[in-house]
Amino acid sequence: MATTQENPLLEGLQLRRTPDPCALVIFGASGDLTQKKLLPALYSLAFRRLLPERFAVVGVARTEETDEEFKARMKEAVRQYGRDELRDDVWETLAEGMRYVGTDFADEGGENEVAETLKEIDEERSLEGNRVYYLAIPPSVFPTVVDALGQRRTAKGWTRLIVEKPFGHDLQSARTLNAAIQEHFSEDEVFRIDHYLGKETVQNMLALRFANGIFEPIWNRQFIDHIQITVAESIGIEGRAGYYEQAGAIRDIFQNHLLQLLAITAMEPPIDFTAESVRNEKVKVLRSMHTPGPKSVVRGQYGRGFVEGDEVRGYREEVGVDPQSMTDTYVAAKLYVDNWRWADTPFYVRMGKRLPRRETAIAIQFKRAPHPPFEETAADGLRPNVLLVHIQPDEGVSFAIGAKVPGQGMTIRTVHMDFLYGGAFRTGMPEAYERLILDCMLGDATLFTRTDEVEEQWKLVDAMVAPWLRDRPSFPNYAAGTWGPQSADELLHRDQRSWRRH
Ligand code: BG6
Repeated sequence: MATTQENPLLEGLQLRRTPDPCALVIFGASGDLTQKKLLPALYSLAFRRLLPERFAVVGVARTEETDEEFKARMKEAVRQYGRDELRDDVWETLAEGMRYVGTDFADEGGENEVAETLKEIDEERSLEGNRVYYLAIPPSVFPTVVDALGQRRTAKGWTRLIVEKPFGHDLQSARTLNAAIQEHFSEDEVFRIDHYLGKETVQNMLALRFANGIFEPIWNRQFIDHIQITVAESIGIEGRAGYYEQAGAIRDIFQNHLLQLLAITAMEPPIDFTAESVRNEKVKVLRSMHTPGPKSVVRGQYGRGFVEGDEVRGYREEVGVDPQSMTDTYVAAKLYVDNWRWADTPFYVRMGKRLPRRETAIAIQFKRAPHPPFEETAADGLRPNVLLVHIQPDEGVSFAIGAKVPGQGMTIRTVHMDFLYGGAFRTGMPEAYERLILDCMLGDATLFTRTDEVEEQWKLVDAMVAPWLRDRPSFPNYAAGTWGPQSADELLHRDQRSWRRH
């Protein structure tokens, strides 16, 4: 096998062991996710020879399509959305083991067709009965599919389930889904996706904190003034009104991606990097979180405006959206993690659609120096130290420090020490889905969310949205292309703080 020194393409995703032969069965194969993320990820894994030699992909969806049509569509998807050049030899190895089953799985007989195809391809490619079922389907059909898969489990090989979000709509529905899964599958067979955990830079937060001795002693309430987490998107809802109207920013981003970023920032060092140890620590953070009062939560919805130079419509004018919709496209909140490390340290978080640009970042703002020995005016341009973790784009870490401006006298200004992934490693970043699919095939659940974790996330969201049924803010309350409603700025101004400047 090539080492990373011989083949720089292998850097980023390396294998200590190879996955077993298996079939990956994608339910919901005609959807956007399959085209834009899953097939491009599988192709990139094939490109780096990280897939098992004996492998198959079975697409399942209601649309009628032949194997050949499905393959042609997937090839086009890889060309359009993939990060690697489309090479015919690589594509052929992947396409050889590709099948499509057009069926409504919820109908009687639907599961038989899938089972037949799997049996055939299993024999043809000696897959040893190993299966990954990828459920990219709406929660309403989820229990039927899980039940049918559970009923048909065979003694041969292993079975794993990858479950896409949304994982329920609230605590109650998440518990119902968990119960449906637990009827047939054990926790170590279930891989609940939060694709943020597959992002290199999110994992780098763990490296930064736990591979460097200097941060741990200052990573607490004594040295940190507050933390800001931003998940800003310039895109709107991209034709997903049906889903987004029900979800809003609180269920689309806060409940999962944002709370995971927060948990990774706040967690205690795990004793090792096994799935159980890491997830135990994250659950402790989630359990220590206060429900913020209504004054500590700001909701927003975008109206018309300009984003990156283009005029865009307001949320209520998007196709499929109720013209009176009260769905949130922006949320900001002040949160507390009530434990010894973080008591009284605010975590200000914000996330929204149609903001000026795409940016996900975690800013750790340290306390000011206790007594600067310089004259006040000398340090005019000086801001407190900030460790800024850029999740995306411009992946990297930047540390703001005070430095002397060259010349006579003592004038201090803030400068930045930067580490940029692109510059340091000179390699493309693997897509989150590459890492996650591979980990699942290897049976490693560290970067997936556990039952109790998902339930804790919902508890917090349920408590936050409960008052929303009564209050009706006047929406829209921010123009597309701005940084959100004014009340989000006031949330910090009340504490004599402000959102990080962009
Ligand atoms: C998804 C949300 O989970 O994450 C989308 O449903 C959002 O609304 C997307 O746009 C953002 O992901 P990324 O990887 O582009 O930050």
